[in-house]
This record gives sequence, structure tokens and C-alpha cells, in this order.
Amino acid sequence: MSNSSETELTHKFKGILFTTRSSPELLKSLDAFDAREDDVLLVSYPKSGTHWLAGIVTKLYGTQSTVTSPIEFGDISKLEELNQLSSQRIIPTHLDYNMLPSNFKNKKCKMIYLSRNPKDTAVSMYHYYRDNPNLPTIDTWTAFFDLFLKGNVVCGSWFDHFLSWEEHNDDKNILFLFYEDMKKDLPAVVKKIASFLSLNISDKDIQDTCMKSSFSEMKNDTKKENSDPSHTVCALTSNRKLIFRKGAVGDWKNHFTPKQNMRFDEIFNEKMKLSKM
Ligand code: A3P
Repeated sequence: MSNSSETELTHKFKGILFTTRSSPELLKSLDAFDAREDDVLLVSYPKSGTHWLAGIVTKLYGTQSTVTSPIEFGDISKLEELNQLSSQRIIPTHLDYNMLPSNFKNKKCKMIYLSRNPKDTAVSMYHYYRDNPNLPTIDTWTAFFDLFLKGNVVCGSWFDHFLSWEEHNDDKNILFLFYEDMKKDLPAVVKKIASFLSLNISDKDIQDTCMKSSFSEMKNDTKKENSDPSHTVCALTSNRKLIFRKGAVGDWKNHFTPKQNMRFDEIFNEKMKLSKM
């Protein structure tokens, strides 16, 4: 990663790397954010399938709600912008639990935490970094692999992120989902989401939502082409090819060397030894 692009494009806040699109002023003032009881948060570490989840939730709610860009993205005017929204807000975020504005916690807002095999997440993030001019330059997969394991990538360590949320596994207002379960049985997961959000949805609507949320449908849905990335779930690009890349489980096997796999497993086992999941 070249130093010049790193300083131009990223900065650290509370030890976590953010892009400069998340201004320090906004990050500092997040805790003053005025949450509403009906806010729904879509929480994920980057590249875990946030767009997929947002697509599903949007379809389930229909036109009654607005999906915003991530709460941590933008400058200080972001909070006022969100305040102005009169419809119900569906707010994506990549923040770890400790950085989440406490108002969301106090008001027991519904939150959906989506997780994905960190090996596939790392590979997805590598491609995203490599092809995205808004992120520092990455020379090789090997270099990115090291950065990922050290947590020196945007949004910090996958392990810390997951563990910070997993501690709240038993909170009734948080639903934990896995990308791999969505790939295996999407209707079952969509039903779970609808029930968690207390939405009365028919089986036909569930089927319809699943059909419209397939990888190919979402990739080819060009309605949002060229839209301003500061108003999209991703916030760093509106290039659909970058967001909808492969949509597969197990692509890590095409990138990890046996040695990298061993090292990843060692670190995973060490960091996750207290994890219940
Ligand atoms: P890959 O890079 O492995 O293809 P996020 O939305 O959090 O940025 O995550 C992006 C990842 O989710 C990408 O993974 C993308 O292809 C995958 N994805 C997006 N929509 C999907 C869908 N409808 N079905 C399966 N995977 C999807």
C-alpha cells in the first residue's frame, strides 16, 4: 500500500481505519445521534453481503421506508440529513458495537447483524480494494492478506468487529444472520427477517422477494446506475461490478495458499476461542 494514497484516503479513529469519506467530526459526534424507536440498523463488516440484506429488507418494507447510506459515512451534516427524513429509516453501518451511537442501544432499536466466513470476506475485500480508486492501492493478494489479519483495513479487524457484536447475541433486539445460510436457504432467512421485523408477509411475497434478490437479478438491476455513491448502501462506489462480483461461498479456496490457510486458521482459533458461535 503506498503511503501517499493511504494518508489521502484513510485515517484512524479510536484505532480503527476509516476512509476519509467518514469525517473525524462526524465520527466524533455520532454518539449524539438522535435514534428513533422504529429505526432499523443493518450491521455488517464490509463485504459480508450488506447490499443483499438491504435489498431484501427494502423489498419487505415496500415504499414505507428509506434506506440511507451508512451512518458513519459523510461529514457532520449527515446527522441533520438523517434527522430530516420523515419516513422510517433503515440505516446500514459497519461500526463495531462499541462505536454504535448509544441512543440506538437505549431505545432498543432493531438491528440485524450479518456475518460471513471471514476468508471469503477477505477475498471479497481484496478485490474491492484492488479495483476501487477510493481505497488505498493494494499491490498483491499476499500484501492484503497480511493487512486483513492485522486489522489494518477499513473498519478494522474482522475478529474484533464480530466479537464486539457477538457479545450481544442474546439481546432480543438483535438478529444474527449468516451469508452462507442465505445462500443455502434464502426463503427461510427472509421469513426469519420478516418475523423479526414484525412484518406480515405472505409466502408468495417471500418467494417474490427471494426471486428479486438473487445475485443475477440484483447485479442486473441498473435502476441505481450512476447514482451518487454518498446516498447508497456502499457509499464508496456506484460501480455495480465492484459490488456484485461473484456472490459465491468458498471463493477463498481460489486465493489462499495452504500456508496462508494454516496461518488464518491459527489466528482464527486463537482470537475466537471465547466465541460461542
Ligand atoms: P463477492 O465479492 O464475494 O462476490 P457488501 O454488500 O457487504 O459490500 O458485500 C458484497 C459481497 O456480497 C460481494 O461478494 C457480492 O457479490 C455479494 N452479494 C451481493 N449481492 C448478492 C446476492 N444477491 N447474492 C449473493 N451474494 C451477493
